[in-house]
Amino acid sequence: MIGKMTMEALIVCDNIMHMEKEKLGEKDGFEGKPTSVWLDTTPGTNYPSFIEQGKVDNSGPSSAKSYDTGRQARMTIDVCVVGGGIAGLMTAYLLTETGYNVAVVEARRIAEDVTAHTTAKITSQHSDIYSYLIKNVGEAKAKMYADANQAGLRKIVSIIMEKKIDCDLIEQSAYIFTEKNRNVPMLKKEAESAQRLGLLATFVENTPLGFDKGAVELKNQAQFHPRKFLLFLAKEISSSGYIFEKTRALDIKNGSVLTDRGKITAKHIVIATHFPFYDKEHFYTKLFPHRSYVLGLELDGEVPEGMYFSIDGNRNTVRNFKFGGKRYLLVGGGTEKAGEDADTHKYYEQIKQYADARLKLKSIDYHWFTQDNRTLDRVPYIGRLSGKDNIYVATGFGGWGMTTSAVSAMIITDLISGKVNLWAGIFDPNRKDHVRYAKTIIGENAKLVQHLLSRRLRRHAFDLPTGFESGEGRIIKVRGKKVAVYKDKAGKIFAMSPKCAHMGCTVNWNGTEKTWDCPCHGSRYNYDGKVIHGPALRDLKKEEI
Ligand SMILES: Cc1cc2nc3c(=O)[nH]c(=O)nc-3n(C[C@H](O)[C@H](O)[C@H](O)COP(=O)(O)OP(=O)(O)OC[C@H]3O[C@@H](n4cnc5c(N)ncnc54)[C@H](O)[C@@H]3O)c2cc1C
Ligand code: FES
Repeated sequence: MIGKMTMEALIVCDNIMHMEKEKLGEKDGFEGKPTSVWLDTTPGTNYPSFIEQGKVDNSGPSSAKSYDTGRQARMTIDVCVVGGGIAGLMTAYLLTETGYNVAVVEARRIAEDVTAHTTAKITSQHSDIYSYLIKNVGEAKAKMYADANQAGLRKIVSIIMEKKIDCDLIEQSAYIFTEKNRNVPMLKKEAESAQRLGLLATFVENTPLGFDKGAVELKNQAQFHPRKFLLFLAKEISSSGYIFEKTRALDIKNGSVLTDRGKITAKHIVIATHFPFYDKEHFYTKLFPHRSYVLGLELDGEVPEGMYFSIDGNRNTVRNFKFGGKRYLLVGGGTEKAGEDADTHKYYEQIKQYADARLKLKSIDYHWFTQDNRTLDRVPYIGRLSGKDNIYVATGFGGWGMTTSAVSAMIITDLISGKVNLWAGIFDPNRKDHVRYAKTIIGENAKLVQHLLSRRLRRHAFDLPTGFESGEGRIIKVRGKKVAVYKDKAGKIFAMSPKCAHMGCTVNWNGTEKTWDCPCHGSRYNYDGKVIHGPALRDLKKEEI
């Protein structure tokens, strides 16, 4: 029964847990577990997929109707939120609290994609954004950005306090720091800019890290465990609405979300799929996925308080995390355009060396990576799509999606409720003032165009699929045609087209993760070609060899 199933949906499924733990334990040749601390310290979820609802059942929210028409399910509801990461779940939660009946549609499992691989600093300090914004969009809009993010921080904290959510929330100062004397003036300027906008920012000569040459401290910020927070929100959402996992949205037509399991007709549709799965606005020309890496370390000695981000180029990021009586330090860094470089070990190694040179390392317990989308002007795209009265989007968080997801949730809830939102202007997804950022567009798109036009055979090309090691993937030529081939441990060969199902760029083999990664907009596929990260909606096409 639909209502009952969704109400009880946060069931820890032993089999799934077992499979996940096995997967998490799988070694990939680098030190520590190849998973995030957030995934490793929380249970998996097992919400039903849309089709599993099957039978006629209107025992859910009064305005929601669902019925079975054979193979494909149907439902009508107030709001359908597509994507179960922090942006989707925060939005679904606020809408639920406001009285809307909401269905969340998640292609895989909720809170397991980018959000499960974040470092979860909840802060309005987004590198040197305030000097940049004052210069490029003026003080009034820069203040909107600061106010919105501070409100996002307060919103997350107030939900946690009000609902007494056990999610390791700790108040912390956030610091952007430098180890280079020449960058100190830039930090002093950023401190002044942030102060002008009303933030509690000050330049400090040094921080608890101990190896910086100066920093901007922003007080009263926070860190938390994102999955503990979101699993709680999901439970609340499903007690009056629906969460459908393993249900992929494929298109939006005439007010309905068409999924691989049926159709959900909604008065309002929110796209929170990280890279928008529905792209009539051509986000592929203005969103750029960048990847970065994290190590979970144990130190020999004190673990510093505070949350850190280096402005020295490699985007090194640091925060602590307590679990099972141990205090870990999460150290991140190494950024590259997603999918371009298959050698992920290289980046872990760089972070290890960075940490080793500055801290007393005892062990490396975890390593993981993920990617986030940057926009042309460093401001996320949040709001209603032009010409589409009832379709909203939240994307382009640029590595700062904790507060900006909360901002998305507040803006979209206000827009749906017909309320004025004071910050909506700066985040408008339809803004057209990107011309001034043409340099970025050309720079980023040059690579894209190169990939789209040439679709050339990248390295590893050779004539016949011989000499394969087990566990290896390559792009080879078979009878003159490029084929992406993977050989599993049992010797089974998986062959598929290397053309990304999104727009046809050639995917690259990622040997560490055993995935095929697209360098254009960040789609990722499993070794067997199954799509695991959008914007691609379909698997790589199977090939006979
Ligand atoms: C290494 C790293 C560290 C970071 N650290 C921080 C930090 O400290 N603080 C901070 O503020 N931000 C941080 N970020 C950024 C932040 O993690 C992200 O901005 C945020 O998690 C993105 O959330 P999301 O909901 O948009 O995406 P996701 O969590 O990826 O959620 C999108 C969901 O949509 C689903 N989906 C996709 N396509 C479909 C479809 N067609 N149908 C149905 N479902 C679909 C996916 O399966 C996924 O579950 C970091 C980013 C990186 C890369
Ligand atoms: S993600 Fe766009 S072409 Fe692959």
